[in-house]
Amino acid sequence: MTRPTALITGASAGIGQELARVFATRGYDLIICARREERLQALAEELRGTASVHIVTADLSKTKGPAKLLATVGDMGLTIDVLVNNAGAAFQGEFTDMSLTQAQDMVALNMRALMETTHRVLPGMIERGQGKILNVGSVVGFQAVPGMALYSATKAFVLSFTESLAEELRGTGVQISALCPGLTRTEMVEDLGADRIPGSDIMMSDARSVAEAGYDAVHSGEVIRIPGCLNQLAVNWAEFQPRWLKRVAAGIAGRTVFTAN
Ligand SMILES: NC(=O)c1ccc[n+]([C@@H]2O[C@H](COP(=O)([O-])OP(=O)(O)OC[C@H]3O[C@@H](n4cnc5c(N)ncnc54)[C@H](OP(=O)(O)O)[C@@H]3O)[C@@H](O)[C@H]2O)c1
Repeated sequence: MTRPTALITGASAGIGQELARVFATRGYDLIICARREERLQALAEELRGTASVHIVTADLSKTKGPAKLLATVGDMGLTIDVLVNNAGAAFQGEFTDMSLTQAQDMVALNMRALMETTHRVLPGMIERGQGKILNVGSVVGFQAVPGMALYSATKAFVLSFTESLAEELRGTGVQISALCPGLTRTEMVEDLGADRIPGSDIMMSDARSVAEAGYDAVHSGEVIRIPGCLNQLAVNWAEFQPRWLKRVAAGIAGRTVFTAN
């Protein structure tokens, strides 16, 4: 019996690497994508014997990145059964501290690439009457986060886009889900220094459990999955607060945390 194939972006580190391990051990062959080829090679080597793994290196923040990725997959003659849009970049600090290039690259990776891979893959899934898409958002997509203004806005896009598509795809056989983790121990968090925020230990998830939550969500038809009880509590509590209160509280928290960090 042929195994289904999952395309996972951002599989060279963190949550994406764990998603690759989870999908491989649960019966999928993989196409893994990122910029660092040696990391992808090491992962493919590790998973040899468990799954067939194809590597595509691409910079998805570049205009032609997503097209190059999917053209390569087409040349390999592979059908994508599950698309996992995981690759993402973050920035911590005031918006004006970002260079315009940093801001443009973040928008290109977190939003445009995710939109484009979805747009290119979806028609085939609808035609086949089956397929799954897992978009990695964040808890910060649920509200404004001063100190991470652009990042949280890109994740709000992921959430809104996924929810709308979930309704548009009703009855097509295609399932789409947003995985919205809170703080998760990865290179991204280390680079941002977010693991040094006081109290971050209590909130910190491990990448493996987040990946397993994502796998389960897209296989059980859950449109939004927030891994971790504390993250769920925080999002649910915030849902019932007035917008101005959430914004002001986030502003105070942001100023305290990001200046202390
Ligand atoms: N860690 C958290 O606390 C947290 C919380 C909520 C949501 N998330 C989201 O989870 C996802 C994964 O984050 P992570 O924490 O696992 O980050 P990570 O450890 O920094 O990994 C990011 C992955 O994205 C790839 N990537 C980055 N820029 C790329 C580009 N231009 N083109 C192609 N691939 C690129 C990286 O590979 P290369 O560098 O090799 O290209 C790497 O594989 C992101 O969407 C992030 O926003 C993370």
